[in-house]
Amino acid sequence: MSMRVPYLDYRVPDPAERARYLAAMDGILREGDIILGGAVEDLERRLADYCGTRYAVGVGSGTEALVLALQALGIGPGDEVITACWSYIGTANAIALTGATPVFVDIGADYNLDPAHLAAAIGPRSKAIMPVHFAGQLCDMAEIRAVADRHGLPVIEDAAQAIGASDPDGRKAGSFGLLGCLSLNPMKILKAFGEGGVVLTDDATLRDRLSALRDNRYAEVGGRIVPGHNGRLDTIQAAALLIRFESLEATIERRRFIAGRYSAALADLIVPPRQLNGYRDVYYSYTFQTNQRDALQAWLTEQGIGTRIQYGELMPDQPAFRAGTQAAYARGHAATGRVLSLPCYEQLTDGQIDLVISAVRDFFTRS
Ligand SMILES: Cc1ncc(COP(=O)(O)O)c(C=O)c1O
Repeated sequence: MSMRVPYLDYRVPDPAERARYLAAMDGILREGDIILGGAVEDLERRLADYCGTRYAVGVGSGTEALVLALQALGIGPGDEVITACWSYIGTANAIALTGATPVFVDIGADYNLDPAHLAAAIGPRSKAIMPVHFAGQLCDMAEIRAVADRHGLPVIEDAAQAIGASDPDGRKAGSFGLLGCLSLNPMKILKAFGEGGVVLTDDATLRDRLSALRDNRYAEVGGRIVPGHNGRLDTIQAAALLIRFESLEATIERRRFIAGRYSAALADLIVPPRQLNGYRDVYYSYTFQTNQRDALQAWLTEQGIGTRIQYGELMPDQPAFRAGTQAAYARGHAATGRVLSLPCYEQLTDGQIDLVISAVRDFFTRS
């Protein structure tokens, strides 16, 4: 059965929009400006301005962004990086790819790293803290940075899901840490037609290191040579991203509208995502909790509505990272069996939103 409301939809139905992407590609092919070059630089400037950092370095993916950010700080074998137990596995994979070891911390009610547990995870081998802004909701960055500062540790934000999310002062995701990392893959809020990522920073030395490391050159960090690899952002992806960047704010507003409708219509039946006053959440996903998760998911599938479980397993419970004890991640474990994400992307029509709402309501109210 074709889904009436797919969980994500990669099609571009508007012919005028498709024509713009094709024209951009045509321009690149004519100019031959195909490795880094104008479109990448233009996108980097726009993203730095938008996110509120001095610099942005375009890279091959969100995973790449995290790996290069860690390597630009000289982090590698023997080091530990502290992160939340709850994230897409790419967060922990990036840490492991540098040779460092991820150390996991339980989450709070916002699904983000709980600062109350942070200090206990810090040890002599800790080299950085990597909070993840889950689903486009900012971590408590003031608390996280306070603990990091007390221990002299840099913060690298995994803002893969959170472009445009801001705090009551208007500060945006990716601008709180020494480095911030975005993913620009097709599932994300600002999406390429393939892979893409960005590292944000205010620090010119780090920017230079990142530029070298993504381009198979090397960086000198603390007297040690760190070899680079091919981590460039593809120019064709940058050209498409520049077009999509124009509608980023409208995209975010539409996602916020959809999430608002879900929460208003379903709050008596589910535990909706937390919404703090003054914070602008961008809803990479609309993730809620119910103790009837599996039955609800099966029902919605029958109704032609796509859903996802983000995430059904904590990172420390996955084969590559088994560590710690059940008790260490009480909140994370409580969430894994109860979370479900509804379709929440800008292309959804009002009719599709209504359909999702009535299907969820029907599940809980049918007798
Ligand atoms: C929280 C988080 N971190 C890291 C990544 C990795 O990004 P990418 O898939 O672009 O490599 C993603 C997305 O896939 C993500 O959601």
